[in-house]
Amino acid sequence: MTIGFIGTGVISEAMIRGLCDVAGYTDQIVVSKRSFDRSKRLSEAYSNITICETNAEVVDQSDWVFVGVLPDQVEMVLQALSFKTTQKVISLVAGVGLNDLKRYVYPCEHVIRAIPMPPIEFGKGPLAICPSDQAFETFANKIGVVVSINDEDQYNLFGAASALMSDFFAQIASVSNWMQLHGLDPAASARYASALYESLAFLATKESAESLSLMSDACQTPGGLNEQFFTFRQSCGIDQSLHDGLNQILERLKSNE
Ligand SMILES: NC(=O)c1ccc[n+]([C@@H]2O[C@H](COP(=O)([O-])OP(=O)(O)OC[C@H]3O[C@@H](n4cnc5c(N)ncnc54)[C@H](OP(=O)(O)O)[C@@H]3O)[C@@H](O)[C@H]2O)c1
Repeated sequence: MTIGFIGTGVISEAMIRGLCDVAGYTDQIVVSKRSFDRSKRLSEAYSNITICETNAEVVDQSDWVFVGVLPDQVEMVLQALSFKTTQKVISLVAGVGLNDLKRYVYPCEHVIRAIPMPPIEFGKGPLAICPSDQAFETFANKIGVVVSINDEDQYNLFGAASALMSDFFAQIASVSNWMQLHGLDPAASARYASALYESLAFLATKESAESLSLMSDACQTPGGLNEQFFTFRQSCGIDQSLHDGLNQILERLKSNE
């Protein structure tokens, strides 16, 4: 099977590297020439990657076509191309719904939306998929934790939650910076903060849906440090601001579709 990427940007590169390095994918991968430095780097790193001169060549040669351009580019890029009914199109593009995508790639009807996150490069992270597709899920499970859903409105919840990335990194950096402000060496601060967040996130992945909500309580000894910190932060309204922020992103995603 040949897979192709139209738009060889940050997320396409992460996905390609995950496929080649983690999943051991050795079938043919074709990439568009745009972002030539990145395409060239990939074709030099992996012998199964070929750069195509045009997007049309990518489509012609691919059984599955991944779309990794920016949201405001997708209509123009896809409508200029001819898709076949036998192909599968997997859009990584945020905020462009299935109905629009199907119009752009007509007569191809096998259209899937997916949200890979940058850690996919290392075979980590969630990979939201809509609608469910057994063949693609089997493929994607090798590089991420697949969560598939048929309801596109609910799929937008994953899209909104994926906007947490910048806030998450800022929080780790802020903990690290706070330690440095108190005189700790920058390397030790960063090492401690990132290992702390990584290990706690790892524990969360081991929990069931029910027990996840109990983890915070379980860490709070009455009168202890965790309880004091948690109570203070709650009184600052962090839960409300998290929900308000996610609601804003959700509304934005819905209004685009
Ligand atoms: N980054 C993430 O964490 C992430 C996660 C999930 C989903 N997404 C989605 O994935 C998509 C790509 O995001 P990104 O972060 O990878 O963006 P990016 O790095 O800016 O990549 C966009 C790519 O599209 C290329 N492109 C633009 N016009 C093109 C055309 N006419 N033909 C072929 N390629 C064209 C660009 O090439 P040039 O550089 O030559 O312009 C660039 O390589 C977005 O729609 C985003 O919503 C991103």
